[in-house]
Amino acid sequence: MPTILAIESSCDDTSAAICKDGKILANIIFSQKVHEAWGGVVPELASRAHMKNIIITVDTAIRQSGIKKEDLDAIAFTRGPGLIGSLLVGVSFAKGLGMALGLPLIEVNHMQAHVMANFIDQTPSFPHICLTVSGGHTQIILVKGELDMELIGETLDDAAGEAFDKSAKLLGLTYPGGPMIDKLAQSGDPDRFKFAEPQIKGYNYSFSGLKTSILYFIQAQTKLNPDFVKDNLNDLCASIQKTIVDILLKKLTFAVRENHIHEIALAGGVSANSELRKRFEELGKVNNWKTHIPRFEYCTDNAAMIAIVAHHKFLRNEFCDYDVEPLARYHL
Ligand code: KG4
Ligand code: ZN
Repeated sequence: MPTILAIESSCDDTSAAICKDGKILANIIFSQKVHEAWGGVVPELASRAHMKNIIITVDTAIRQSGIKKEDLDAIAFTRGPGLIGSLLVGVSFAKGLGMALGLPLIEVNHMQAHVMANFIDQTPSFPHICLTVSGGHTQIILVKGELDMELIGETLDDAAGEAFDKSAKLLGLTYPGGPMIDKLAQSGDPDRFKFAEPQIKGYNYSFSGLKTSILYFIQAQTKLNPDFVKDNLNDLCASIQKTIVDILLKKLTFAVRENHIHEIALAGGVSANSELRKRFEELGKVNNWKTHIPRFEYCTDNAAMIAIVAHHKFLRNEFCDYDVEPLARYHL
């Protein structure tokens, strides 16, 4: 039963986790704050921050887990998809430490890891369908086995997280706007405003039209009342959030019914959204489908999800060569 150190550095969170026998002993997440002032992730600043934080993050994970680095059996890292400069830091660090300790390396696909976050404290059965919603991706995935996944639907333009973040920007909220919209929506009326929903066939999503529809609506209303956004902020947040959740769950329902599936899972940063979590559970109850949602700390980017994939790869002897390179694009 392996003890694995996993490193995640695909975007703007530096994270390290220790996994022993498939159990997470530590999961340290160092969220970079430098991007807030810029209204989005600045790739070069992200690489530099990973460089600065990676040693303390890994060191803290090892110390908190109670293991010694000599106890490790392998080192895992996110190979992609993600920002290439950010990935390079994690991959290079894993190689350096792996070389020094004489350990094998395990490369992990970040999107597969989001799906596997549901296997940390739960045991979903197969096949099930997972909706992965993050800042960079929106995917409907048919999960046939622990490492056997088929992408059956995805966004044609913006990701669900981007829809939250770009809407928040239009409302003058700071980055990342998703959690802010969630908070402000708590005391808003979700049925006050209606926004256009996309008409895309099949299991694919589109969110760019929603952003345009919100922009035109706000522009028109602000002409009538310059304080429109300020006066209606909570209702706007609740209505935008409801529209995004409606779009996400309609397609998910369609895919689950057509594939005769009875078990659903949620993953990715946007699965931290309280409305989405609530409505996802209701959807399961109404249809008698079993549901899985990761704990909050395993929804947004984290190394525990990288570690759990690595655990299953270790059991299958799936190691990679030391000349492995990161991949900015990495399909499931
Ligand atoms: O998975 P993640 O941490 O990073 C990526 O791989 O992209 O997802 C980040 C995204 C951001 O767009 C953020 O606004 C969104 O997840 N997010 C939320 C909430 N918490 C995070 N969106 C809506 N409501 C939330 N509570
Ligand atoms: Zn992610």
